[in-house]
Amino acid sequence: MTTSDVAWPRPAGPLELRLPTRELVEQVLVWRNRPEVTRWLLRTEVEPEAFTKTWLDGIDDPLDHSAIAVLDGEVVGTGSLWITDAMGQTHGDPAEYVRAEAGIGYGVAPHHAGRGFATEIARALIDLAVDELGAHRVTAGCYADNIASWKVMERLGMRREQHGVRDSWHAELGWIDGYTYAILADEWRERRVAERTAAN
Ligand SMILES: CC(C)(COP(=O)(O)OP(=O)(O)OC[C@H]1O[C@@H](n2cnc3c(N)ncnc32)[C@H](O)[C@@H]1OP(=O)(O)O)[C@@H](O)C(=O)NCCC(=O)NCCS
Repeated sequence: MTTSDVAWPRPAGPLELRLPTRELVEQVLVWRNRPEVTRWLLRTEVEPEAFTKTWLDGIDDPLDHSAIAVLDGEVVGTGSLWITDAMGQTHGDPAEYVRAEAGIGYGVAPHHAGRGFATEIARALIDLAVDELGAHRVTAGCYADNIASWKVMERLGMRREQHGVRDSWHAELGWIDGYTYAILADEWRERRVAERTAAN
């Protein structure tokens, strides 16, 4: 699948995920460099022009499906989705594991935190990865101290597959623990069916 095969905008609960535009990225930049946002990010403070270019360049990258979350015309968050190869042996059919894994990330404007928006963004990204991009697995990582981030993953049924002891470097705290979460496409589909059944 190429970038152009994915239809945008797409819903994420009450939010709408849109492809980036210079204007939307400008709105992200209003809060992106605030300390409460950068505290647990790997890419901490960003340079506005380079950040904007990265977002806009991503539109034509078939492995990048990142989007900006909007509510009633206001930018409230971001969602990143990138496709990678899974681990696989060199003989046999590489099509099985090439582009078979998706990674996701999310960020929410501080004044909109705690409203479930990151959960909605992540849910929509996993749906996209599983239903349209053919991902076999979706993964996400965070610092273990980023409780709000891993709560989002657990709320969505992702499994903590790695607790890396002091595997992650933090500029102020030094070596600290990191978590990796994952969910299989099959597990995600089963979970969705169970949720829909429970809702009826
Ligand atoms: C992490 C982040 C995306 C969460 O966004 P959000 O929209 O507030 O998330 P949600 O409302 O969907 O869920 C957050 C969960 O964490 C909980 N939470 C929020 N802040 C918390 C804190 N400081 N300590 C403990 N739990 C916290 C919420 O109560 C909620 O838990 P629940 O499912 O038990 O109700 C947001 O805080 C953010 O953008 N942080 C900065 C960027 C970042 O760290 N991104 C993730 C990189 S891995």
